[in-house]
Amino acid sequence: MLTRREVFTRFLQCLVAGSSLYIVWKYVRGTGLSSLEVNFSKPPKEGEVLFSQGSYLVGLKQGPIAFSARCPHLGCRLEYAAMVQHFQCPCHGSQFALEGRRLKGPAKKRMTILDLRMDDRCGAYKITLPLS
Ligand code: FES
Repeated sequence: MLTRREVFTRFLQCLVAGSSLYIVWKYVRGTGLSSLEVNFSKPPKEGEVLFSQGSYLVGLKQGPIAFSARCPHLGCRLEYAAMVQHFQCPCHGSQFALEGRRLKGPAKKRMTILDLRMDDRCGAYKITLPLS
């Protein structure tokens, strides 16, 4: 039979353990956001590359296209090399054409295409950037 003191002590231990688990769970889950909406106020001209918050908006002949700036190899941030008009990865040297096609390097896939929508009210472009 437990004394009142033992019951109270176990209650406190459970409370502390539960609080700790909750804090860890909140930390692991982060903000709870699974995606980020990135806005571009104007469409890119043909051949123009715009960057904002981990995403590129590229003006192609057939219209704008949005890419994640994360390299499909191991996730380094791709840089746009305007002089040669392609994307390159500073980590292991993968290169990608303006339309996201893989040119060379250890990456096996093309650049990740993101969901792109145009806001009819103001002509701005919105990109949905996954945060995983
Ligand atoms: Fe980009 Fe390896 S992370 S090539």
